[in-house]
Amino acid sequence: MQVKFRIDFVPGCRALRRRGASRGLGILFSGLILVLAGGPAGAQAQAPPPAVAPISWTHFDVPPAPPFDDALRAQGKQVFQENCSSCHGVKGDGNGRCAPFMAPHPRDFTTSTFRFKTTPGGDMPTDEDLFRTISLGLHGTGMPPWRYLLSEQERWAAAAYVKAFAPGFAKGPTPQSVDLGPEPKAPDSKQVKQGAQLYVDAGCPKCHGGQGYGDGPSSETLKDAFGNPIQPRNFHKAAQFKRGHTLRDIALTIATGNNGTPMPSFGDALEPDQLWDLASFVLSLDERKLAGGGTKAAASTGDELGKPDVVIKLMERRWHFVPNVIHVKQGQIVRIEFQPTDNGLGVGHGFAIDGYDKSTFINGAMVQRPKSVTFLADKAGTFTFYCATQCSTGSLHPNMNGTLIVEPTAQKVAGGGA
Ligand code: HEC
Ligand code: HEC
Repeated sequence: MQVKFRIDFVPGCRALRRRGASRGLGILFSGLILVLAGGPAGAQAQAPPPAVAPISWTHFDVPPAPPFDDALRAQGKQVFQENCSSCHGVKGDGNGRCAPFMAPHPRDFTTSTFRFKTTPGGDMPTDEDLFRTISLGLHGTGMPPWRYLLSEQERWAAAAYVKAFAPGFAKGPTPQSVDLGPEPKAPDSKQVKQGAQLYVDAGCPKCHGGQGYGDGPSSETLKDAFGNPIQPRNFHKAAQFKRGHTLRDIALTIATGNNGTPMPSFGDALEPDQLWDLASFVLSLDERKLAGGGTKAAASTGDELGKPDVVIKLMERRWHFVPNVIHVKQGQIVRIEFQPTDNGLGVGHGFAIDGYDKSTFINGAMVQRPKSVTFLADKAGTFTFYCATQCSTGSLHPNMNGTLIVEPTAQKVAGGGA
């Protein structure tokens, strides 16, 4: 089954590659060359990469929508059949050819059940909500972030076409977003304490567990609206939240619930203040303490080599490496600190160097969960580096590769193998 998943999945989703490549997303970064330690002095300071705002469903800027008319739906049909039907099915019923191999299952739109929205309980999502989900994808699931591959117009068109599958949109009034009011500046310990009490009072531990590990007494038996087993979220791993892990993302999830899952909507039972307190408590449990900006490298290998001569901050952005050319000198101890800005197809991004030491390898670096590797640049030459996590250079992430240039040095390298 595992093997078949890979084989079926890749061709079924080939559209990802074609569209990505055709848009030439590389233009922005292909010219970006960073020369490190190239000068005679060796390891100079490197300019830090620009700060990246957390990727978040609720903070995503939604541009004005075009009219949802027949022309837009017709365009949407084409976009959908080309990019979405492999998972969601030609009829939008969640039965695409990749679907049997995916957990969670791609959504069946014909049931009119949507999880990620700004509207209360079982209400339909707004057009903007659909646009957000389509643009950003859903962390930890197969749902890709389409903003890298489809234009704004194409994403609106896809949203219009998704609506045509779900009869719930034709019924009832226009969906209205809940109003959470202003966000508290920085959650303080008082709010976290109040949130901890509310957490118990509102019955969250039943599913999410007393300590928030997602292991409450009900957790083993929960099912979603489609009869599939579902786990309550583990609050210690906020980077894995599907909607996102800012305070507003979490407060909104508590207010709206996740329709079609056991996650209830608390918007009617609790005041906005209480929702923010609860969200502050949930966020306080995160192992990386995101509120305090946890960007420290979480995992590391090669530390036994000692202090690195050069530290290279490598990023994934729009499914490209930035920088995509790295210069080092033979004999240097090089540390790569790799920080992705999205989670790829749910499992993060990696780093490996073709033709270099096999142990120079990073797997599954995720948003705000950077990983690093340290290696000795003992061989001179030009090498290709690539994403080592579920994205071979040739298929799913065709642009996730770059060039490592190790300049030869005349002198003998201490400890430098071959
Ligand atoms: C590789 C598989 C895959 C592809 C391709 C894909 N999706 Fe999804 N999509 C999913 C999965 C899986 C989910 C369910 C995630 C979950 O349950 O948390 C989903 C969920 C959704 C949702 C529902 C979110 C909600 O609130 O419940 C929408 C809307 C959606 N996809 C739209 C699209 C559109 C539009 C496209 C094409 C542009 C597309 N998807 C392509 C896998 C895919
Ligand atoms: C009956 C069980 C149940 C109860 C009670 C419950 N939850 Fe959940 N919760 C879930 C499930 C299941 C999910 C996962 C939904 C999914 O995968 O789409 C979830 C998801 C979440 C998420 C993560 C959403 C995301 O974006 O990934 C948050 C935050 C959350 N719950 C907070 C709470 C809080 C706070 C309470 C109490 C006020 C609570 N939940 C009560 C079952 C429950």
